[in-house]
Amino acid sequence: MDYDISVIPGDGIGPEVVGQALKVMNKAAQRFGFGLKINQLPYGANHYLKTGVILPEEAFSELSSTKAMLLGAIGDPRVAMGPLEQELLLALRFRFDLYVNLRPAKSFPNVKIPINTVPDGEILDLLVVRENTEDFYMGLGGLGQGGYQGSIKAKRGLYHLEGSVKIDLSPKTDLAFSLGLISAPAAQRVAEKAFTLAKQRGAKHLHVASKANAVPQLYGFWDEQVNQVAKNHPDIALKRLNVDNLCYQLPRAPMDFGVILCPNLFGDIVSDLASSLIGGLGLAPSANLGDHLAMFEPVHGSAPDIAGTGKANPIAATLSGSLLLNHLGQSQAAQAIERAVKDYLSQGLDLPFELGGQASVEKVGQILSLALETMPIK
Ligand code: NAD
Ligand code: IPM
Ligand code: MN
Repeated sequence: MDYDISVIPGDGIGPEVVGQALKVMNKAAQRFGFGLKINQLPYGANHYLKTGVILPEEAFSELSSTKAMLLGAIGDPRVAMGPLEQELLLALRFRFDLYVNLRPAKSFPNVKIPINTVPDGEILDLLVVRENTEDFYMGLGGLGQGGYQGSIKAKRGLYHLEGSVKIDLSPKTDLAFSLGLISAPAAQRVAEKAFTLAKQRGAKHLHVASKANAVPQLYGFWDEQVNQVAKNHPDIALKRLNVDNLCYQLPRAPMDFGVILCPNLFGDIVSDLASSLIGGLGLAPSANLGDHLAMFEPVHGSAPDIAGTGKANPIAATLSGSLLLNHLGQSQAAQAIERAVKDYLSQGLDLPFELGGQASVEKVGQILSLALETMPIK
């Protein structure tokens, strides 16, 4: 059996880590008797600088025929920050209505954690469930001089939005604004997913991040929607925290947390924090899920500071590949990749630079591929 998957390696360390992830995924596929037909797409900064096009309309139709895609990272210092990320990465999330962003952060034996709060022999197992379509990611905003007047427009899987904004500032000064929006169905569907995942893990509680104290319209509404959904799950205690307090509590007592539901922006931030608690961004995978296509990507970005040096850790991309294979129904292959990563990190030999070793991105890929090749399989 062959699976069609689309791959956008993207920018910076994206192609480096995706190259290794694909190598490992292909080895796993070989071992478990299936094939991966990879449709590699060139989008990213280089393509944009060459053609002036970020993501053509044909790409959406091409992608909609595949069940899953893997993305490296988007963002390049030669291009202004924003448009590339918005019109490529965020556009994919929104157009395919990938409304859930799962960001597990699971620690590994013998991987040093910067703060010493995970007891020896125990595993920190966090799962950030991030709303992935709304909040301050609506792309609604503008710049004005003395005020602003203009129309706003957005499209999501759940709705079309059109309106206008008029702002007068007195005295007149330059301004920028951005609108956050949370709709009831978008908040409720991700909350439902978080409760379901918490239940699957046998969790007794679910944490939810909010900030209704400072932004009551938006996050007070978010709280109400989550509370509504909580009524269907009386066996799971909902623990609400303001996101600032969450960022304080999480590093102090990470073992008290499991599934953490977040609105989009806080989810972005909290998932980087969570990755730090397990040893680094290079270990943190993610899945963008909707009802159709799913997109898998490391939590990290294009890391321009280390791009081209060989110092990138490909494990986050590789584990994203494992989540992808699991999504395709190849759970044994997915677990084999997880096992290879776990064994490799437990041995503590030839570690990636991020974890204090000297193994290049290529070398880590080789080690994991070899492990997949030789691993005993029941
Ligand atoms: P970043 O995640 O790229 O890097 C943050 C830090 O983590 C850097 O010091 C980097 O060297 C390190 N790091 C990240 N991944 C690593 C890995 N695999 N191995 C070892 N070290 C790793 O965040 P940033 O610097 O804020 O962003 C750089 C660019 O990436 C920006 O253009 C940003 O918009 C973009 N970005 C894209 C995505 C994405 O495509 N999903 C995610 C985050 C940031
Ligand atoms: C991420 C990134 C993106 C986000 C950026 C690049 C738009 O930080 O995937 O975590 O904010 O979602
Ligand atoms: Mn991020």
